[in-house]
Amino acid sequence: MSNNVNPPANETLNLDTVAVQAGRPSPSPDGPVNPPIFASTTLHAGGPAGYQREWNETTSYLEDLLGALDSGIATVYSSGMAAANAIIDLVPVGGVIVASSHSYTGVAMRLKELQEAGRLIVRLVDVTNATEIETAIRGEGTPAHWVWLESPTNPLMEICDIRAAAHVARDVGAYLVIDSTFMTPARQRPLELGAHVVMHSVTKGLAGHSDALLGSLVTNEPELARIFIERRILMGAAPSPFDAFLAIRGIRTLAVRVDRAEENAKIIANRLLEHPSVTAVHYPGLSSHPNAHIHDTQTDGPGTVMSFEVTGGAQGAENVCGAVALMTYATSLGGVETLIERRRRWPNENKDVPESLIRLAVGIENVEDLWRDLAQALETA
Ligand SMILES: Cc1ncc(COP(=O)(O)O)c(C=O)c1O
Repeated sequence: MSNNVNPPANETLNLDTVAVQAGRPSPSPDGPVNPPIFASTTLHAGGPAGYQREWNETTSYLEDLLGALDSGIATVYSSGMAAANAIIDLVPVGGVIVASSHSYTGVAMRLKELQEAGRLIVRLVDVTNATEIETAIRGEGTPAHWVWLESPTNPLMEICDIRAAAHVARDVGAYLVIDSTFMTPARQRPLELGAHVVMHSVTKGLAGHSDALLGSLVTNEPELARIFIERRILMGAAPSPFDAFLAIRGIRTLAVRVDRAEENAKIIANRLLEHPSVTAVHYPGLSSHPNAHIHDTQTDGPGTVMSFEVTGGAQGAENVCGAVALMTYATSLGGVETLIERRRRWPNENKDVPESLIRLAVGIENVEDLWRDLAQALETA
């Protein structure tokens, strides 16, 4: 069902304006300016939807907004993982999916368990190696059906050449999905680079306040969009209208939040680089990043997330995370508050991630306050 709400998909508007203006009710005398929360699982008979898993008016405003930001048709799910599973569900039985070897742990685990169950074949690739990606997509007589790539990868911040991957995928008739969660549409729009689908954990930078769990798939292929809604209905992965409302409210400030947090992140990354307790910094905003030159050609900035390694191994990293007072030791990213985390504390984290690696999701606090806190914590590494 198409969304019943407006906003002018005006190609001349810039993203920061679209984030504020799209996804609103059409103007009517005394009508609401903001989308209300429509808490109704069932709908009067006679329309094409009828039930909340198929359509909800609050969610449809969010879909308008996300679609406008990525120049496509958005389908919203109850989490980023639900959106990922909607894609994975589309790989034919025994079919091939190419995936980043350093994907987000939830996606990596899901692919692994399905491969072990004989449901599908996973070809893992180093996202920084365009030749390896091409070989995996083409296969030897068995090309991939779907390609799932992250750029930057979580948490190693590796960069994939999205245009090159899209070119090969289109050549063999495979669908390319980019998990663009770390970037948000404010910094990276994969559909414009040739990807068929962009996936977001809306939970993160889009919603932006660590208070709503949502995911989205955006495509400019209407048939795929139709299938995505079908997956939501059959997988039962419909979002809560309240969370959709929170995400809309959060996205209004997307551009200013990302600008501010990214400025903070650039300053912190450069200071970390000079710090004696830090052995490596992974951030595409640094000229030392091995794929910064590719990132620069496909994004509008390095974003708000980085990772770094400290002296003292796992214990050194735990000490740092435990010693911060202003930053919060918690998982996730993209919120207004700065979060810090030793990723290998999770038993299922990829073993390629160093024990001493800390992911830092920079927020919008004052950067000098943040640095003072991190600098004192680094003394414990
Ligand atoms: C890159 C990436 N993709 C997907 C997800 C899953 O999203 P959600 O937590 O909304 O299910 C996450 C969550 O951390 C993520 O970081």
